[in-house]
Amino acid sequence: MSLTIVNSSKPIKTETLIIGTMENHAPQGLNEGVDQQISDLIRLGDLTGKKGEITILYPSQQAVKRVILCGLGSETKVNLEVIRQATAQALKKAEALKCKNVMIDLESFLVGELDMQAVAQAVGLTATLNQYHYDTYKPEKDHRLAISLSFSKPQQIRQAVQTGMAIGEGANFARDLGDRPPNTLYPEQLAREAQRMCRQYPKLSIKIIKKPELEKAGFGGLLAVGQGSKRPPVFIEITYRGGKAGAAPIALVGKGITFDSGGLSLKPGERMDEMRFDMCGAAAVLGIMQAAAATNLKQNLVAMISSAENMPGGNAYRPGDVVTTLSGKTIEVLNTDAEGRIILADALTMAVKRRPSCIIDFATLTGAVIIALGHIASGLMSNRDTLATSLIAAGQASGDKVWQLPLWDDYRDLISSDKADVANMAKERGAGTIAAAAFLEKFVNDIPWAHLDIAGTAWGQTNPIYGKGVTGAGVRLVMTWLLNPNF
Ligand code: BES
Ligand code: ZN
Ligand code: ZN
Repeated sequence: MSLTIVNSSKPIKTETLIIGTMENHAPQGLNEGVDQQISDLIRLGDLTGKKGEITILYPSQQAVKRVILCGLGSETKVNLEVIRQATAQALKKAEALKCKNVMIDLESFLVGELDMQAVAQAVGLTATLNQYHYDTYKPEKDHRLAISLSFSKPQQIRQAVQTGMAIGEGANFARDLGDRPPNTLYPEQLAREAQRMCRQYPKLSIKIIKKPELEKAGFGGLLAVGQGSKRPPVFIEITYRGGKAGAAPIALVGKGITFDSGGLSLKPGERMDEMRFDMCGAAAVLGIMQAAAATNLKQNLVAMISSAENMPGGNAYRPGDVVTTLSGKTIEVLNTDAEGRIILADALTMAVKRRPSCIIDFATLTGAVIIALGHIASGLMSNRDTLATSLIAAGQASGDKVWQLPLWDDYRDLISSDKADVANMAKERGAGTIAAAAFLEKFVNDIPWAHLDIAGTAWGQTNPIYGKGVTGAGVRLVMTWLLNPNF
């Protein structure tokens, strides 16, 4: 990752300079021989500063070859999401122009009431997200941009930029895991990647539980889902020691289905390839653990990841099976495609054993959440309104949005079973996302818990801060929530 901070009071030299512009405010004193061009453009009405506007100028002077002006809109409406999107659009433009290096003029983004540190973090994050390209199997040459940030007092923003970069790198780690094809990223490989990441940080320790031990310990849910595949399931447990010894940790739980064929309740062929992304919950958890370690978060965390491949092999679990989970609770399997909740049951049980202060789970759990919220916000369901409210606020602040769906008793009835403690599918159509959450709730033993259904947001977003593919949804949200004591 190449992102340097430079002092703007020194003479600048860059191929491309990025400057934020606002409605009714002409950028001034650029000393790049562009002031005249800017006033001409404003006079002609070609430069307004409105949100999303991108204008390119070519100064005659040699130190800067081009200037990209990106509109931030009106001063009263500007917020961090506007800054993130404008930065992303300008960087995309620079990339399209095949620029090799760009400099972002941070001062031009310090508008309205915005806090300097928050803007520095937002730009550091956006620049880092922009650097992510998944091209392992089809490398594109020379598309990496070297990005620098110029600011008059570099020391004052260094820390904030680094925090933004660490969150962005956590999200990029999650994105890379998500984008990998399922023939190379299967459960044991996911565990190896997790192990490789943990080795880089002394405060992270990892335990990988393989199939024989899963059998001994009674991970009935994870084993049932994994038994139709030649590739064995694994359980990944990571501990981050950043807080006081003995202080209750926050538990992060992830769904790591490396490919979801649906099992015997086979999915239709159309877009089945997207089910390689069904481990994005696990990837988000790993991204957060990395970012927590990189930012030296002062809290204890535990991560619990169930990983399996859901396949219809000869030994596959069947609709009609009754599965005994690690908790001892039994599940009636009505549809093998509702597998995420079954593997999460065991992961939640593992989380509960650590007596966490709260549990947050991340899962590409239901297609229904895409109907409800599209690719804009993740679905949030919780057994504590205070926890939900703080996550919604972190969602608004970070731009990694979440919206709450209710978890009333009426919905809890949907998953009752007369053959087991719970059924893995609702008996009526509708409210599929909430029914899944009601199922998960059975395994959290009334510990404060929030469930994030990221099926719509983990990929397929059109937000300019992401390129094609996986987004790392959940990483920015929860890192913002963890780092900011106000949430
Ligand atoms: N991984 C899918 C959910 C999914 C679907 C994510 C589409 C992203 C896009 C999950 O395992 C699943 O298949 N859920 C079923 C549940 C149903 C059988 C109760 C669903 O949503 O259809
Ligand atoms: Zn499924
Ligand atoms: Zn799934």
